[in-house]
Amino acid sequence: MNSIEQLVSQAQADFLNAADAAALENAKAKYLGRVGQITELMKGLGKLVPDERKTQGAVINAAKTRIEKELNARRNALTDALMQERLNAEAIDVSLPGRGRGMGGMHPIMRSWERVEEIFRSIGFDIADGPEIETDWTNFTALNSPENHPARSMQDTFYIDGNDTEGKPLLLRTHTSPMQVRYARMHAPPIKVIAPGRTYRVDSDATHSPMFHQIEGLWIAENISFADLKGVYLNFVKAFFETDDLRVRFRPSYFPFTEPSAEIDIAFGSGPLKGRWLEVSGSGQVHPTVVRNMGLDPEKFIGFAFGSGLERLTMLRYGINDLRLFYEGDLRFLKQFN
Ligand code: DAH
Repeated sequence: MNSIEQLVSQAQADFLNAADAAALENAKAKYLGRVGQITELMKGLGKLVPDERKTQGAVINAAKTRIEKELNARRNALTDALMQERLNAEAIDVSLPGRGRGMGGMHPIMRSWERVEEIFRSIGFDIADGPEIETDWTNFTALNSPENHPARSMQDTFYIDGNDTEGKPLLLRTHTSPMQVRYARMHAPPIKVIAPGRTYRVDSDATHSPMFHQIEGLWIAENISFADLKGVYLNFVKAFFETDDLRVRFRPSYFPFTEPSAEIDIAFGSGPLKGRWLEVSGSGQVHPTVVRNMGLDPEKFIGFAFGSGLERLTMLRYGINDLRLFYEGDLRFLKQFN
């Protein structure tokens, strides 16, 4: 084999040995680069006599063409291999079942919320939604807690910059009770409504959260009594806790917006909480002043209201013992309800 032939097969071997594009370019430089062997041979042609230059030139050119062909072949092979590698790595097995996205689930408080709505809707209550930013008047004054009344201090809240149209402060509602007045001023009696929603207080420990949920109930007509409250509430808790084996009791209490007022306690007849009286709601007969603030004649209209804590109801239903679990967003806790 003459030396040109050797050069070509040497180049071919070098190219085949190049494992990637960078190595291949280095190998190329060895033959076709500025000081590559083919280039050097070309430069040497000038020293030859014309006849020899012509034949040698043709030989070198043919070798160069072959080397370039080898180079391109190897280039293509490397590109193909790279592509194949990527295709393998990114292969999708279309026969596998779809992965889908996690669906998420409903928060236990929202489960209770919807459940309570469903139960009250089934006995003819309307559902109303009210603003979380309230006026001082609706949250307190209309509910018979005048300014400076000591009952206001039981519900310290967050105040908002800016005032209502009467120059009175705006605040985060401390309870859902303002919805009693809002709703009654927009609907003619008989009024039969529940208003679930978020409420706020300056309170934070194992049993209190600065944001919590309540569900307000209101039934006003010409002849609605405490007996109706008892019937409605007993029916509600039986449906909510899915048991008939439970009692309610009304324990005298004080709220400015009801007279008389009572706390509602329940006791289960079985289960881990068997026989213990558990407070679930405030309630009472709507105070005549509140009825008047609803735009109604307290001589003619009478009824009851209640306000229950959704967290409390949910904790009792599922046996949860720390309120803070609801707000920590820990999936290990939340997943148990879905
Ligand atoms: N709003 C009261 C609270 O947050 C609960 C309450 C008590 C609501 C008696 C009522 C009621 O409607 O009649 O503590």
